[in-house]
Amino acid sequence: MRLAVNIDHIATLRNARNEGHPDPVDAAILAEQSGAAGIVCHLREDRRHIKDNDLERLRETIQTKLDLEMAMTGEMQSIALRVKPDLVTLVPEKREELTTEGGFAIHTHFKRLTEFIKPLRDQEIGVSIFIEPEDDAIELAAEAGANLVELHTGPYSLCTGDEEKEYELQRIRTAARIAREAGLSVVAGHGLSILNIAPFRELHDIEEVSIGHAIISRAVLVGLPVAIQEILDRITR
Ligand code: PXP
Repeated sequence: MRLAVNIDHIATLRNARNEGHPDPVDAAILAEQSGAAGIVCHLREDRRHIKDNDLERLRETIQTKLDLEMAMTGEMQSIALRVKPDLVTLVPEKREELTTEGGFAIHTHFKRLTEFIKPLRDQEIGVSIFIEPEDDAIELAAEAGANLVELHTGPYSLCTGDEEKEYELQRIRTAARIAREAGLSVVAGHGLSILNIAPFRELHDIEEVSIGHAIISRAVLVGLPVAIQEILDRITR
């Protein structure tokens, strides 16, 4: 299983002083050197962490895979078509949320989604949709032309009891299998950390996990290479 590292919160820290450091591009380079298979950033409408210029510099620097998380807006589509990340992950976005709160409302946006994805795929940009681990969302993602789905692990990450945790894991396990059978690649993410990642090692239909906040906050204490290695030790054989 691969690990993609989300570096948004390096930018959050940088923006606290509005000076140039820490630089998310430096973090991306270090993350790649430490075993990350991809770098993820979320260019939000309000630019609260990653800025346009960060995205441009990340595109020039990243050697592995650049995954741009974004909302389904015309502005973001133009940016993606110009910057050409390797992958776009479509996420719902609300100004007032602290972080992405749930899967993309694929039923509501289905008609526009197909039209939105096509120009991206035509430019050979991979398209992933961040969805709840549910059968009908997977079917619609495949039908809309996505080549990947990212399963929302937020509810799993918030579970406290073992039974509850196993229930959420089973939803993720089943959804991952259905997605693979539908010809989609499968990523999982949100709220994953050193404390809850271990069972994912056995979820063989999931090719990659995408982790941000837990790695960056741990890195503040132990350094980015150590924080990344701790996760890799738990997801690779
Ligand atoms: N995947 C998606 C689609 C996200 O929106 C986020 C948060 O930016 C993540 C993964 C990473 O979540 P976390 O920061 O909780 O690891």
